[in-house]
Amino acid sequence: MKVMSVFGTRPEAIKMCPLVKELEKDPAIKSIVCLTGQHKEMLQQVVDIFKINISYNLDIMRPQQTLTTITVDILKKIEEVLKREKPDIVLVHGDTTTSFVAALASFYQQIPVGHVEAGLRTFNKYSPYPEEMNRCLTGRIAEYHFAPTKNNQKNLQSEGISNHIYVTGNTVIDAFKTTVKDNYCFKRQELNQIDFNMKRCVLLTAHRRENIGVPLENICEAVAELAKEDKNIEFIYPVHLNPVVKNTAERILGNIDNVHLLEPLDVEDMHNVMSRCYLVMTDSGGLQEEAPSLGVPVLVLRTETERPEAVEAGTVKVIGVDKEKIYQNVRIVLDDKEVYEKMAHAVNPYGDGHASEKIIKILKDNMEQNR
Ligand code: UD1
Ligand code: UDP
Repeated sequence: MKVMSVFGTRPEAIKMCPLVKELEKDPAIKSIVCLTGQHKEMLQQVVDIFKINISYNLDIMRPQQTLTTITVDILKKIEEVLKREKPDIVLVHGDTTTSFVAALASFYQQIPVGHVEAGLRTFNKYSPYPEEMNRCLTGRIAEYHFAPTKNNQKNLQSEGISNHIYVTGNTVIDAFKTTVKDNYCFKRQELNQIDFNMKRCVLLTAHRRENIGVPLENICEAVAELAKEDKNIEFIYPVHLNPVVKNTAERILGNIDNVHLLEPLDVEDMHNVMSRCYLVMTDSGGLQEEAPSLGVPVLVLRTETERPEAVEAGTVKVIGVDKEKIYQNVRIVLDDKEVYEKMAHAVNPYGDGHASEKIIKILKDNMEQNR
């Protein structure tokens, strides 16, 4: 069975590499990996850690890329790869433009698509934008749906998808086996200088398209206020390479001694710093899954989430992007020990760390039946 995995951004890579490693181990499978290169440095960082074999890199990233340029460039370039390799199945992940376009291109070649991390929904097509539409369209094209949770399965069923939905857990939990270590020594020296026992450290990430502009400014201004008034807190902010995000972060947070603006961390440093932090503030999807399973409370810098599981469990709270509300919510979690303790319990609704093996078994069983 020839399986082609296509991905192009950091979060897809973190969640697809564990699956690719399992595919590579299986003698009955030929694994082909095609990177779209929607990201460059941030993608390479992940691939280097997991040490997977890459067959193709479409290398499409441009400094000022738009949704249109990403779509057009991938669609044009991937056609030739699909025609040459003729895989039995193409695996895509989640909700990026890479995922949707790779699914569309595979459909044009009449190659079945397996959607990993299927069924996440906010049911609001502009939030997250364009991810909600990307995952709906990918789900419409896909033959096999690998849903992390039962809730994700229900979402797909509510859209009339009834066949080949499998609840497997999320491959992000599989990734921890490679990345999280006791007595870990950070590669980024600045992190080794922070005393995580003496200081309360808050890990911050923010990059989403719908937050760029006023919401991101609000986030940074709230953090600036919190950092200036309380020198016992250290904010650690690995900043996304998008120049618009970088400029805003540097302009508002650049000269505050207890705010550490860092270049993107590799995923080992990232998961291990997360496990040592007191609190996470983020608009990222992946962090909403990772931090709860490490027992770290999360405040979500968005107005809604497609990951309600940890919200229901009390570990994640959606606090929006209003400056005053962000400030108040962070203060409550930092000041009220009872509130904090209620949030800081390990919750893992996202599987047992064996999602990749389950996905491969399902693929093999189905291919066997179709022969
Ligand atoms: C993309 C995904 C988003 C995902 C995010 C993860 C889409 C539409 N968006 O958004 O769902 O949450 O990745 O990070 O698919 N850049 C670099 N080097 C890199 C990566 C990015 O310089 O390694 C800069 C480039 O200037 C690029 C810009 O960041 O043009 C934006 O990248 P892009 O992939 O378009 O958007 P993201 O916000 O990263
Ligand atoms: N991450 C990382 N280094 C960083 C910031 C994030 O390795 O400097 C990881 C993080 O742990 C998570 C993933 O990247 O696994 C999240 O990616 P991102 O926030 O870019 O995208 P999203 O999850 O929002 O789609």
